[in-house]
Amino acid sequence: MLVAPSILSADFGKLAQEVEAICEGGCDLVHVDVMDGHFVPNLTIGPVVVKSVAKAATKPLDVHLMVENNTFFVDLFAPLKPKYISFHLEEEKHPHRLIQKIRGLGISPSIVLNPHSRPEELEYIINDLDMVLLMSVNPGFGGQKFIPSVVEKAARLKDLILRKNASALIEVDGGVNDKNIHALKNAGVDVVVAGSYVYGSDDYAKAIKSLQI
Ligand code: DX5
Ligand code: ZN
Repeated sequence: MLVAPSILSADFGKLAQEVEAICEGGCDLVHVDVMDGHFVPNLTIGPVVVKSVAKAATKPLDVHLMVENNTFFVDLFAPLKPKYISFHLEEEKHPHRLIQKIRGLGISPSIVLNPHSRPEELEYIINDLDMVLLMSVNPGFGGQKFIPSVVEKAARLKDLILRKNASALIEVDGGVNDKNIHALKNAGVDVVVAGSYVYGSDDYAKAIKSLQI
């Protein structure tokens, strides 16, 4: 299991050190939550701050867009060369076109599904994706309770990926901890995001390791 700590739960007063600490602690990706105050009722960070995050990080960036105008934000963040950019299916009229655009910029495209969205919606684009991000909370805030139906959804998505002979990874975001990690692993999840579980612990390296099962 790959682990992508979400810097949303970091101490922003010492952001560079917080990013260095998770990288030194052995994380696989650095998850960056971009919220615009429109698609979700919260506002986070833009490219100016994320540039400092990229400078401090020794692991690839995993950018999660929670915004209304995906194309505009893809263009804003592309120069920072993240490994992944994930956008919400619920907020995109032309997902196929945006996937090609992200790949054309040399970035791995990923689609996010909110808790209500069906994995079958991805049937005709799954082969174009490098990752699918399943929300296990409603997007907008760290520290929320895990929605257990995501486990069955991940298993159904895994079946779709195998049936279509696709290679997309499955990532789960929200409320992940050492209690639900085993069910996620069994369902075929490849990557987990963990914000409050990692940054709320006294030992980031130990918390990260406990999820790398
Ligand atoms: C929620 C964000 C998550 C969040 C996860 O909108 O997408 O990445 O920071 O935080 P925890 O792990 O605390 O639920
Ligand atoms: Zn996220």
